Amino acid sequence: DDVVHPLHLPWDHTGLLSSYDCASLRRGFQVYRQVCATCHSLERIHYRELVGVTHSTDELVEMASEVDVVDGPNDEGEMFERPGKLTDPLPSPYANEEAGRAANGGALPPDLSLMVKARHSGQDYLFSLLTGYCDAPAGKPMMPGLYYNPYFPGGAIAMPPPLNDGGVDYEDGTPATISQQAKDVVQFLNWCAEPEADTRKKQAAQYMLVIGFTALMTGYYKRFKWSPYKTRAITYVK
Ligand code: HEM
Repeated sequence: DDVVHPLHLPWDHTGLLSSYDCASLRRGFQVYRQVCATCHSLERIHYRELVGVTHSTDELVEMASEVDVVDGPNDEGEMFERPGKLTDPLPSPYANEEAGRAANGGALPPDLSLMVKARHSGQDYLFSLLTGYCDAPAGKPMMPGLYYNPYFPGGAIAMPPPLNDGGVDYEDGTPATISQQAKDVVQFLNWCAEPEADTRKKQAAQYMLVIGFTALMTGYYKRFKWSPYKTRAITYVK
């Protein structure tokens, strides 16, 4: 009874004929990197997959090279550090689950790669969760280290409110309100969980066109082939 259902939000990239908004994806990736990445991994996403989606190849090569990646073993059987490459996954904030829990009062910040798919009402839930922090109702006991959020089952979440007004500086000048950042990062996380959505919709449209054309041609062909017999049948009845 502590759960509030998320609003049904009019995302403009979910329609059959609509695509992701790349400017929003770029802003969303910025929110992820500057805010969420402190605690959450996005381990299924590699830099190369973001080429042409959020950034250019050169920008991503540079971004990746700023990360120290542990690689190996080399010929001597040793692990070594090297600058990141396009083929590397995005870096995770913690070495392992224990480190993640130790840094978050026992709670584990889950990997966000498929989070939009992992929760009911995916994007609507994530947006509501990120924007839904408020004071706990009078009389609700809150354990230390937990924050009231009516959209989280049970109402008490171990994630502190991550977004602040103006918490990031958007390079395209978009005002970084909490809801703007939430919208951008959720659309970005939806892309992470469903990077093929645009291609799939485009292919579906092409498929429908071809199937529609084929149906018309089949109908015409059938009527064309049968037309002499139909004419005769009518004559015969007369
Ligand atoms: C949990 C998203 C930033 C710590 C979660 C969940 C989501 C999420 C979707 C899962 C909620 C659920 O289980 O239903 C985000 C996004 C962020 C962000 C989009 C950036 C805008 C942060 C930051 C921290 C953090 C900066 C650390 C200070 C946690 C923890 C949990 C969690 C500890 C587990 C909560 C629990 O199980 O009680 N986050 N998060 N998150 N997040 Fe974040």
